[in-house]
Amino acid sequence: MKRDLLSLHDLSSNEVAHIIDLAIKLKNSGSKITNHLKNKAVGLLFQKPSNRTRVSCEIAVWQLGGKCLYLAPQEINLGKRESVADVAKTLSRYLDCIVARTFSHTDVVELAENASAVIINGLSDLFHPCQALADILTVKEKFGDEKKVLMSYIGDGNNVCHSLILACARIGYDLNIATPKKYEPSQDILNMAQGIAEETGSKITILNDPEEAVGNADVIYSDVWVSMGQEEEDKKRKKDFKGFQINSDLIKGAQSDYIFMHCLPAHRGMEVSADVIDGPNSVVFDQAENRMHVQKAILTFLLGEGEK
Ligand code: CP
Ligand code: NVA
Repeated sequence: MKRDLLSLHDLSSNEVAHIIDLAIKLKNSGSKITNHLKNKAVGLLFQKPSNRTRVSCEIAVWQLGGKCLYLAPQEINLGKRESVADVAKTLSRYLDCIVARTFSHTDVVELAENASAVIINGLSDLFHPCQALADILTVKEKFGDEKKVLMSYIGDGNNVCHSLILACARIGYDLNIATPKKYEPSQDILNMAQGIAEETGSKITILNDPEEAVGNADVIYSDVWVSMGQEEEDKKRKKDFKGFQINSDLIKGAQSDYIFMHCLPAHRGMEVSADVIDGPNSVVFDQAENRMHVQKAILTFLLGEGEK
C-alpha cells in the first residue's frame, strides 16, 4: 500500500519524530550521493512559483540517486488542459512520486486518490507539511530534545499556520497563534490537532493579540499576509494585518534567546521588520537549508530502499 503525505495528519507522532531523526542523520552525513532512491523517478507538478520547495526537492532527489523532473504550471495546466484524475493516472505510468504544489487542496487529494505514484503535498491552500517538518528540525537544532518549547505564530491562519499546528501537536510543543479577527486558522484543523495534542501534551492557543501571543515565546514565527493566489485581496489584507508586524517592539516580551522563523519568501516592512529578520536571532536560512535535509528524509521514508 503506498503512503502519501498530504498533511501531517497522515503521519503518526512516532513517524514525525522518525523523519526528523532521519533528516538529522542525512544532514550529518553531508551531501554524498546515496542509493536510497535508485531507479526512482520524482516529478514536481507545480501550479505556483517556488524557490525552496523546487530546488530542495531537485537536489534531494539527485543526492539520493534518483531522477527528478520539473513540470511547470503552463505545461500540465492541472484540471484545465486535462482532468486531475487523468494527470494522476498518466504521470503514475512514468513516475514513482509526484510532489504537487496546487491552489486547491482538493486537487492534491484527487491526485492521491487517482495516482498509483506516491503524492507529496508541496504546498496547497490548506497545508504545507514539508515546511512544518523542516521547521521542527530547525527548532530541535536550536533547543534540543528536552525543552518544552513555546512557539508563537503571528499573522494569517493559512497553510503554513495549519501545518505548524499539526506539527506542534505531533511533537508536543506549545503554540500560541495571534491573527486578526476572521483570519483565524480552520476550526476543523484545530479540532484535528486537539485530538493529537491531548496525547502529546501540546497546548494550542488561539488569540487576536500579538503581544499576548509573544509573551515568553522561545520561537516567533511569521509568514506573508498575502499568500499565492490571494493577490486580489492585497490591499484589504495589508489593512487588516496592521499591528501584526513582528518588530523589535513586539519581541520585547519574548525569551532573550528567542529565535525568529519565517518560511520565506518574506516582505521586510510588512509582516516582519528588517532588523528582526536580518538580526542575530533569525534562523530563516537554516530553515531554508533544512527544507532539503527534511525532503531527503521524507522521500527516503515514503519511497526509499535500504535505510528508512
Ligand atoms: N517556503 C517555501 O515553500 O518556499 P517556496 O515557495 O520558494 O518553495
Ligand atoms: N503562505 C504562503 C507560503 C509560501 C511558502 C503562500 O501560500 O504563498
